Amino acid sequence: MKIISLPKYNIYIDRSFENYDRFLGDYQESKLFVVTDENVYFLYKDTLERKVTNRDIFWYVLVDGDYSKTSENAFNIIDFLIKNGAKRNDLLIAFGGGVVTDITGFVASIYMRGINLIHIPTTIISQIDSSIGGKTAVNYEQYKNIVGTFYDPMIVICETKYLDTLQKKEILNGYGELIKTGLIGDVEILHELDLGDVNYSPDLISRAIEIKKKYVIEDYFDKSIRNTLNFGHTIGHAVEAATNFEISHGEAVIFGMIKALEVGIYLGLTNHKLLDDLNEFLQKIGYKVPNLKYKKYEKYLFMDKKGKSDGIRFVFLEDVLKPKIETISWSKLKDALVNTEK
Ligand SMILES: NC(=O)c1ccc[n+]([C@@H]2O[C@H](COP(=O)([O-])OP(=O)(O)OC[C@H]3O[C@@H](n4cnc5c(N)ncnc54)[C@H](O)[C@@H]3O)[C@@H](O)[C@H]2O)c1
Repeated sequence: MKIISLPKYNIYIDRSFENYDRFLGDYQESKLFVVTDENVYFLYKDTLERKVTNRDIFWYVLVDGDYSKTSENAFNIIDFLIKNGAKRNDLLIAFGGGVVTDITGFVASIYMRGINLIHIPTTIISQIDSSIGGKTAVNYEQYKNIVGTFYDPMIVICETKYLDTLQKKEILNGYGELIKTGLIGDVEILHELDLGDVNYSPDLISRAIEIKKKYVIEDYFDKSIRNTLNFGHTIGHAVEAATNFEISHGEAVIFGMIKALEVGIYLGLTNHKLLDDLNEFLQKIGYKVPNLKYKKYEKYLFMDKKGKSDGIRFVFLEDVLKPKIETISWSKLKDALVNTEK
C-alpha cells in the first residue's frame, strides 16, 4: 500500500483493499451515506457492502454522466440526507468518478456547513485528479463547474482494481489527464503509457497524484502556480461545451494540449519537437484529433473562469517538464489559433 499525505488527509493507494473497516475506525458511531452513480452501483454495490462490515449504508444513486452534476441534484442529495437524519459527524462517501466526487464534495461542504467526507474514486480521472485538491463543483444551466467550493475529504481510498471495468472511452478520458501530468511533471508516466497495454498500477496512479499534490500544497486556492494543472484545459473546456459534452473531458484536454503547443510554437515559446512527439504518441494510442475549428468553440473560450476582459492566463509548455504561465490577449490567442489551423 502507498500512502500519500496532504496537510489535512491521507490518500491510501493499492490495487485492492480487503476491507475498509480500518479506514472507518474513527467513525464507528457514524451513519454512512454513499453517493454513487448507476453504473458504479450496479458493478460495485455488493463489493462496497462487503468491505464495510456491520454497517448500514444509505445509498443515493445518480444517473451517470455530467448531466447529473447539477445544483438541482445537489439539493436532491441534501433532501435525502435530511430525510435520513444525517448529522455533521456522520459520513458522506463519494463512490464513483469525477461527477460523483465533485457533487458529493460540494454537498459535503454546504450541508450543515460541513459534514465528514470520504472519497472512494473509481475512474482514472477521479483517482488522480478530482478526489485530490479540494475543488468541488456543480454545473448550473449551461455553465460547467460554475458553482463550487474548496473542501477536503478526511480520507481518500484509492483502489486501482476498480479501473479494470472502465470502458474504452473512459480509459482514453483518463489518458488525457495522465498525459498532461506526464508532460508537466513526470515523464515516467508517459513512458509507462507508451508501453501499450497499460496496467494501472498503484505506482502509476501514485506518480500522477504526487504531481497534483505538489501544486495543491503550493497554491491550494488556485491563484497562481496551481493553474499549471490547467495545461490543455482552456481550449479543452471550450471544446467540451461547444460540442455539448459529446467530446469527453480527457479527449478535449488532449485536443487542448495540441492547440496549446501549436499556439506556443506560433509564438516562439514552445519547442516544436514536442508537438511532433505528442502527435506520434497519440497515433500509437489510437487517438484521432477531432476536426474542430476555432469558430465552433470561440464563444466558449470567453467563459473560462481564468479569463479577463483583456486576455487569459494561458499555460504553455516550453518543453517537457517546463510549463510556463503567461497572460495572452484574446486577439493574440485568436490569431495564433486561426493561423495554425489545418
Ligand atoms: N474537482 C476537480 O478537481 C476535478 C478535476 C478533474 C475533473 N473533474 C470533474 O470530473 C468529471 C469527470 O470525471 P470522470 O471522467 O470520472 O467522469 P464520470 O464520473 O462521469 O465517470 C465516467 C463514467 O465511468 C463510469 N464509471 C465510474 N467508475 C467506473 C468503474 N470503476 N467501472 C466502470 N465504469 C465506471 C461512470 O458511471 C460514468 O459513466 C467532470 O465533471 C469534471 O469536471 C473535477
